[in-house]
Amino acid sequence: MWVHLETERLLLRRFTEADEDDLVALDGDPEVTRFINGGKSTSREDARSRIARWLGQYEERDGFGFWAAVERGSGRFLGWFEFRPPGGEPPPGEVELGYRLRREVWGRGHATEGARALIRKGFTELGVERVIAHTMAVNLASRRVMEKSGLVFVRAFHQDWPETIEGSEHGDVEYALTRAEWEAHPEPR
Ligand SMILES: CC(C)(COP(=O)(O)OP(=O)(O)OC[C@H]1O[C@@H](n2cnc3c(N)ncnc32)[C@H](O)[C@@H]1OP(=O)(O)O)[C@@H](O)C(=O)NCCC(=O)NCCS
Repeated sequence: MWVHLETERLLLRRFTEADEDDLVALDGDPEVTRFINGGKSTSREDARSRIARWLGQYEERDGFGFWAAVERGSGRFLGWFEFRPPGGEPPPGEVELGYRLRREVWGRGHATEGARALIRKGFTELGVERVIAHTMAVNLASRRVMEKSGLVFVRAFHQDWPETIEGSEHGDVEYALTRAEWEAHPEPR
């Protein structure tokens, strides 16, 4: 069982109910949710129910789920990383990677640092065979984090979302990294 994962600057830990205010604040920044829902904020009720769901997921699959990212030392909440099987289905061979960080820390490599640590953990300790990630085609920062984490472009596709947001006409993209590829190049540039 692992409860924490440390990187040079980050501590990844399980969410707790006490993170509700920080989750509401994170999604209260329209730049953060721009490529998620077009810039809408999350209600307190929604944040609470997401945390409740995430707490349940920790019990289902040890080592996988939504991980709060805090600054090492200060404990300041910076955002989160997702690392879990799509749809929550076994076996844990394929895992989806995602991330969302507070705007004030963007551009300093935090997303790449956390993603690489989760990928390493997944391939070396958690039995993961393939890591995948999706984002809107126009979300260039997210795509760059995927590339810097070693994921490779797989496909572009269009799917029906409940509502259209700016840039969604360009569709979505999928990136992936297999264990064999990672073993060949464990520390991508
Ligand atoms: C995506 C996100 C997590 C990246 O976090 P971060 O800590 O800034 O990421 P990093 O610093 O590790 O890397 C970002 C890279 O994207 C690049 N980048 C940022 N904005 C860009 C843009 N508009 N166009 C092109 N590249 C861009 C940066 O230059 C950097 O690449 P570099 O190191 O080669 O210069 C952050 O922007 C975020 O939380 N966005 C909102 C939520 C979101 O969209 N999540 C993904 C949804 S799938």
